[in-house]
Amino acid sequence: MSVQNAYDLWSASYDADHNLTRDLDHTVMVQMLAGRPFESILEVGCGTGKNTGLLAGLGESVTAVDFSPGMLAKARAKITSPSVTFQVADITQPWPTPAAAFDLVTCNLILEHIEDLEFVMGQARRALKVGGLLLISELHPFRQYLGGQARFTQDEETTFIPAYVHHTSEFLQAARQHGLTLQDLNEWWHADDEGKPPRLISFLFQK
Ligand SMILES: C[S@@+](CC[C@H](N)C(=O)[O-])C[C@H]1O[C@@H](n2cnc3c(N)ncnc32)[C@H](O)[C@@H]1O
Repeated sequence: MSVQNAYDLWSASYDADHNLTRDLDHTVMVQMLAGRPFESILEVGCGTGKNTGLLAGLGESVTAVDFSPGMLAKARAKITSPSVTFQVADITQPWPTPAAAFDLVTCNLILEHIEDLEFVMGQARRALKVGGLLLISELHPFRQYLGGQARFTQDEETTFIPAYVHHTSEFLQAARQHGLTLQDLNEWWHADDEGKPPRLISFLFQK
């Protein structure tokens, strides 16, 4: 099943499913961004809008893109702030957003589905203003090494969504190739993860 079709299906239950990774990612966003104002934010892979509300409270304007109509429909129903614009876009293609327009670009739990990290870093760099920030929060590669992968179960059938393993060094190298400087790197555990490898990894890069 394609990534897009899988998320269209998952959109029906994404918000209600038991999902520690989804929940921890929101905590990461709050801890990394709370109290930091931005003029213009680009949210890449907004899904059902789990983080869009938070971003709408931080930015004067938010552009939230995703390629799953099902996920976007959920987000549009949830987030009615006039400062948020939703847009359909496949981020493996040149991004339809303007250049040098955003002071924050966020990618949460999406890059596992993207083979070519360098392309995304290049597009993020193009989208950012000078001095702008790129915040990435992803399933930690340690979890991927142990078989972790985005998946959901509906009607007792589990769908594994196509995913690529990206080592920590790949994120750093792809960012460096595009002149993005690492400001912060963190590893994150959910309260239920005691004794386990970190669940998420986050990177904060600056243009
Ligand atoms: C695990 S969900 C994360 C959604 C949201 N960021 C969150 O943290 O809840 C991954 C999202 O990435 C989107 N996605 C995956 N590949 C994409 C692509 N090539 N272009 C745009 N969106 C994509 C999916 O449609 C899905 O909504």
